Amino acid sequence: MSNLVVKNLNKSFGDNQVLFDVSFEVKEGDFLSLLGPSGCGKTTILRIINGLEYPDSGSVIVDGKDITKVSPDKRNIGMVFQNYALFPTMTVYNNIAYGLKMRKKSKEEIDEKVNAALRLVKLEGMGDRKITKMSGGQQQRVALARALVIEPAILLLDEPLSALDRKIRAEMQYEIRSIQQKVGITTVFVTHDQEEALTMSDRIILMNKGVIEQESDPWTLYNYPISTFASDFLGKANILKATLVKKEGMWFAQGNGWTLPVKHTGGENGDAIEVAVRGEHFTIRREPFDNAQKFVVKDKVFTGSVCKLLGKLGEDAVELTTLSIEAESFKQGGEVYILPNIDTTLYFPAKNKEV
Ligand SMILES: Nc1ncnc2c1ncn2[C@@H]1O[C@H](COP(=O)(O)OP(=O)(O)OP(=O)(O)O)[C@@H](O)[C@H]1O
Ligand SMILES: [Mg+2]
Repeated sequence: MSNLVVKNLNKSFGDNQVLFDVSFEVKEGDFLSLLGPSGCGKTTILRIINGLEYPDSGSVIVDGKDITKVSPDKRNIGMVFQNYALFPTMTVYNNIAYGLKMRKKSKEEIDEKVNAALRLVKLEGMGDRKITKMSGGQQQRVALARALVIEPAILLLDEPLSALDRKIRAEMQYEIRSIQQKVGITTVFVTHDQEEALTMSDRIILMNKGVIEQESDPWTLYNYPISTFASDFLGKANILKATLVKKEGMWFAQGNGWTLPVKHTGGENGDAIEVAVRGEHFTIRREPFDNAQKFVVKDKVFTGSVCKLLGKLGEDAVELTTLSIEAESFKQGGEVYILPNIDTTLYFPAKNKEV
């Protein structure tokens, strides 16, 4: 097990700077996800960690040793690429054995390790198959076995599940996580899928245009995002323009035709703010109740276990999420009364508008 530190990475391609002072640490055996929209620099960070790219400044340190300038083949880092990058004409066995052959291991050792890796990813007995005869999920397993067979200090996974369909993807999320825990390997996982990051990670780094927006555990990132970008990227939030108002010692967000109580976390009376509140954080009733605001249900969208209620809070479009079984009594065109949970109704200064 190894410890990985990435320090003050800056990287430009021509005059396009794609990483700005990126620093983080992955503790021994931890599973860290780099999460963020397309083009925010996730793959570039992985390529710098495994030596396929050099940073303009900054360093990569494994177990206290600076490896920023060490060539990739001397780094002992396993990587699964965004498109798998398997050798299509080789068998499964030879794909997995490749790294060991490069390292000039004996035939016996290669045999023993490749077979153990095949067992680990549940492809026992499939060593003789051609890659082209394997399904997407099976190719994914081969790529994982190939990365793990060299017993790397660090495992890097670049959106390894993006090509798989929903059900296999969920299975593989579980498998990758349990293999990672079994082997106890320090892992950096790249994804732009928030649910995947929340499901799998010990810690998550949310990236926005080459900058770390927020780093925390999944629970905190989802429930206590520190910006409108983070609230909206991690599960869609309603972002509403409002004014921060103090009335009789209580704080409120006053919007276009609505007023909601908030917990004061900064700012002055009269400040322009943006309120972020998740659709599932509202209490919805058919009768008025304390502080509740009227909401007209324009549309009901059934998505299976949950139902979305689309409608208006004052003049603002808002989306509520509720269990389908509870949505039965809310009629399209009908009026309900809503109040968000005050603890998870967050607000940020209005200038923080980068969504
Ligand atoms: N070799 C390169 N030459 C020039 N520009 C590059 C190169 N590699 C990456 N970039 C640019 O750097 C930025 C970050 O790219 P990167 O591949 O790291 O993004 P990403 O977060 O992995 O995106 P995706 O989710 O689409 O894979 C992009 O603007 C990209 O166009
Ligand atoms: Mg990428």
